[in-house]
Amino acid sequence: MVKKRFLGWMLLCCFLFSGFAVAGDAHHDMDHKGASEKGPAILLVTFGTSIPKAQAAFDNIEKRVKAAFPDVPVKWAYTSHIIREKLAKTGRHLDSPEAALARLMEQGYSRVAVQSLHMIPGQEFHDLQVNVNAFKQMKDGFERVMVGYPALSTSEDYARAVDIIFSIIPKDRKKEDAVVLMGHGTHHPANAVYEAMMYRLQRRDPNVFMGTVEGILSLDEIREMLMERGVKKAYLIPFMSVAGDHTVNDLAGDEPDSWKSVLTGAGIDSVPVIRGMAEYDAFVDIWVDHLRGVMAHME
Ligand code: CO
Repeated sequence: MVKKRFLGWMLLCCFLFSGFAVAGDAHHDMDHKGASEKGPAILLVTFGTSIPKAQAAFDNIEKRVKAAFPDVPVKWAYTSHIIREKLAKTGRHLDSPEAALARLMEQGYSRVAVQSLHMIPGQEFHDLQVNVNAFKQMKDGFERVMVGYPALSTSEDYARAVDIIFSIIPKDRKKEDAVVLMGHGTHHPANAVYEAMMYRLQRRDPNVFMGTVEGILSLDEIREMLMERGVKKAYLIPFMSVAGDHTVNDLAGDEPDSWKSVLTGAGIDSVPVIRGMAEYDAFVDIWVDHLRGVMAHME
């Protein structure tokens, strides 16, 4: 009897050291389901990018997620159908979130922490929540599956993002030079996040602005504000996870309607900074901390 218990402890230790999280009800589940001894998996979900250089940002996210959760398998999914198709032609096959979740279910995972790598809780985030919830409701679906919030979800997130923005402004920027962030912008009510950011940035430094490509705080509005303040020079910084198509073309492109061209045309010397937010560790850590909150529910 004593020997048997000792053997049990030995086995338990083996499980622990081999990286299995032995949850309270794991043994019970194992008896019935077989697959449930598998620990949780992490699914990172982004819009995606087909620009090879922008991939550096995703590599950085993966590195920091794996450092935070060393024993947990990390998978990726891209929500953009167009980008998945583009990449498939080059031999890179990326899953949609739904395909990735189905695959994880097939592989016997019962707990999945999904982390939205979006900037704001907008349309794509809400679509993701709807589809993830469907996986929870289906028969023999996941026991636990949750979606972590995008980068700018709480006022604490806003404060962190503002600090990061001020820390990445090029060192040679003078006080009278403007800094213009380019957010994506959306028809979704969450576009208000950009206005909240604008307020916080302006409170700290009236020469720092938040604009968007597709929402309000349009380039026209930003240009007007810069001219009102008599700005002669501006640093243009993408406020997106990766320096993808919007950065390369809409922000820094040579086309007459790019932000650089329009502002230069208004007499403002414009210096684009080609680097996505996910290339800055401190910014990635906002997502990692949201994921930490979800992982706490996966035990
Ligand atoms: Co876009």
